Amino acid sequence: MENRAQWGSRVGFLLAAMGSAIGLGNIWRFPAVAYESGGGAFIVPYLFALLTAGIPILILEYTIGHKYRGSAPKSLGRVSKGFEWIGWWQVTIAFVISTYYSVIIAWAIMYSYYSINLTWGDDPTSFFVGDFLNLADPGVFGGFVPKILLPLLIVWVITLGVLSKGVKKGIEVANKIFIPTLVVLFLIIVIRAVTLEGAADGLSSFFTPDWSRIGDAEVWVAAYGQIFFSLSIAFAIMITYASYLPKKSDITNNAFITGFANSSFEVLAGIGVFAAVGFMAFTYNTSVTDLAAEKGVGGIGLAFMVFPEIVSQIPVLPGLFGFLFFASLVLAGLSSLISITETYVAAVSEKFNISRVKSVVFGGGLAALISLAYATRGGLNLLDTVDHFINNFGIALSGLFQVVALAWFARGLKSYQSHANSVSDIALGAWWRISLGVITPIVLGYMMLQNLNNRIS
Ligand code: PHE
Ligand code: NA
Repeated sequence: MENRAQWGSRVGFLLAAMGSAIGLGNIWRFPAVAYESGGGAFIVPYLFALLTAGIPILILEYTIGHKYRGSAPKSLGRVSKGFEWIGWWQVTIAFVISTYYSVIIAWAIMYSYYSINLTWGDDPTSFFVGDFLNLADPGVFGGFVPKILLPLLIVWVITLGVLSKGVKKGIEVANKIFIPTLVVLFLIIVIRAVTLEGAADGLSSFFTPDWSRIGDAEVWVAAYGQIFFSLSIAFAIMITYASYLPKKSDITNNAFITGFANSSFEVLAGIGVFAAVGFMAFTYNTSVTDLAAEKGVGGIGLAFMVFPEIVSQIPVLPGLFGFLFFASLVLAGLSSLISITETYVAAVSEKFNISRVKSVVFGGGLAALISLAYATRGGLNLLDTVDHFINNFGIALSGLFQVVALAWFARGLKSYQSHANSVSDIALGAWWRISLGVITPIVLGYMMLQNLNNRIS
């Protein structure tokens, strides 16, 4: 246990944690969720969720990883023998996410490439029809596997290559390159977007608060869902990353830094996306509201249909704008995929006592093979279904298991609190215990019931 791999520096750890958090969820999920959940008014449930669930759980996961120094199943198993399965449940979810997250990054690679000459054709909406993905094309293997194969291979080679190099030389180095580059690229995009004609209208529809929504349970559930996915919590990832922290490392402060960095990036993405949507509305001589209703402003549709359309209309250097946008998606996505994959790579290598490289080859290799399924003809539907299931059941359930187990059973929150306080600048108080022991379980329990109810009815 003593020769466990370690981060080379605090900044290295922070960049890796931010790399995990900042991902596709920030760029295409947040702007849409916020817009549909009250615009500027969403700030209230969002901040509440960040401060009562997001950051408290992040602190809890950092504490567990730091104190018990193992992958998620191992660390949770060290807290109490009966908790190991929670770690495996989370590891399984991480595995499933990695199989489709990788495909989305592969699309983004294709789109960065096609941006250069705007070769997505006259009809950017062809994405869903299948032309763009070349499904109708001979592709590879007689058309069964489309041209997505090469970018997908690139995604997995980078991810598994980085992971096989280990924590300090692989994950840390990759994030030290990816995250600063991402921030610079994204700032260029945002600056360009807000200087486009119509941008102001886009921003005002994004930020104008609709206070009538604030009493809506749905809006609160959306805020919690966004925080969980966006901060990569309840996936065992942050436990794994924190298990590589040196003994003397701040926990609480690092959690606040990670949380606020991630949220800042979400707001930045919201500004960029809605400025661009405002520009599009201007070009079409319509209102942002109508446009958003017609086209949708989130998810795969935003990135691969709305954005190409916007890019094609940019007056100067459209190809460059498109390239920067899709390259940002690639960087944000890769740094998250690395963290998701590390979760099961570490767990499998510790459980079966095999080397990191072997675990990368078996675990990562299997995920890469499965990811091919989403690149086939029915792939997009499959992806949608799996993603929906993960978001509605996987996350809430694993968050609930973890928080309830740790807060109500075994050692209890006071013992983690004193561990965190013994190494951190900021001292945790009752808000932390109340958030984790009471507020979060209630909200997650409610989310579960509501999901079940939707399922049945
Ligand atoms: N937090 C990442 C995002 O916002 C997504 C993610 C989910 C990463 C789960 C790791 C695990 O896109
Ligand atoms: Na995120």
